[in-house]
Amino acid sequence: MIPRGWAAALLAASVVWGRVPTIEPGAVRHVQEHEPWRIESFNAAKVNDRVRLDTTERCAPGAHSAGWADPGEHGGSMLDIVGNGFREPINVIISGQSDKGIMSDQGLLDYARSIGFSFECLHLHLGGLQHANLGDGRGYTPQLFEYRSILFHDSPGAWIGACWESLAGGNHFRVWRQNGTLADTGAWFLAVSKEEDVFQEHTISPNGYDVGRNLLVDAATRGSSFKGKSWRASVEWKTGLLPTGSQGINHNISLDGRVAILHVRRTDLQ
Ligand SMILES: *[C@@H]1O[C@H](CO)[C@@H](O)[C@H](O)[C@H]1NC(C)=O
Ligand SMILES: *[C@@H]1O[C@H](CO)[C@@H](O)[C@H](O)[C@H]1NC(C)=O
Repeated sequence: MIPRGWAAALLAASVVWGRVPTIEPGAVRHVQEHEPWRIESFNAAKVNDRVRLDTTERCAPGAHSAGWADPGEHGGSMLDIVGNGFREPINVIISGQSDKGIMSDQGLLDYARSIGFSFECLHLHLGGLQHANLGDGRGYTPQLFEYRSILFHDSPGAWIGACWESLAGGNHFRVWRQNGTLADTGAWFLAVSKEEDVFQEHTISPNGYDVGRNLLVDAATRGSSFKGKSWRASVEWKTGLLPTGSQGINHNISLDGRVAILHVRRTDLQ
């Protein structure tokens, strides 16, 4: 007879371990059936073609010289909404006055790759979508993209997606764009957070929001490059846009309340 405590532990372990096989073979089978090119070939150029995004550069019209606007001005919030009703912080803004090359969907992905992120494993999204209201007149909208940290910016992850990292946890961010008519700044709004691994069910590590933000900001201000382009960001820290503390925050994780405003410039021109 197995003692009850052990039985519970074994059951818990099998539930946790069970998650990986149910995600993995299912995902791989789906890809094998519907998009076999993703598995048969790791030809970087070919895979990259398949994840090509819109390249339209949508720059901030001159009216918004700051390159971003406080969502609170028109009833929005720097806290997004998770499916469970809790909130997560939008803790980084990439100003709409940044290099116009990163103001397209494809440009943002290339920039994200330069600072150590990539699209999710084989472009398969494993979690729920979050919603944000950026005070631009569009109300709550679902996240546009979600990018995950990879080990090196030139590792295969940059081309096939963050596969190991999707299971191992790590840093990641969700993206929205402030481009509704009430605040058409073109800025990218990022909710950055650092996770534990999948065996902890992708929960956010203690201080995971602040830590994730700081890691991204460090990489951006250090300078980065991808496919022959280089960038460096300057950062301006803002308080007052986000609350401090953990009231209503997902996983009860405390926030220091700071938002990093990044102005990203090309450094390989002129
Ligand atoms: C807002 O930005 C998103 C993402 O780049 C784009 O898909 C959408 O068309 C833009 N909307 C407008 C009105 O430009
Ligand atoms: C949330 O964290 C605070 C301390 O940061 C603690 O006092 C509170 O009991 C926690 N609430 C829950 C529901 O865990």
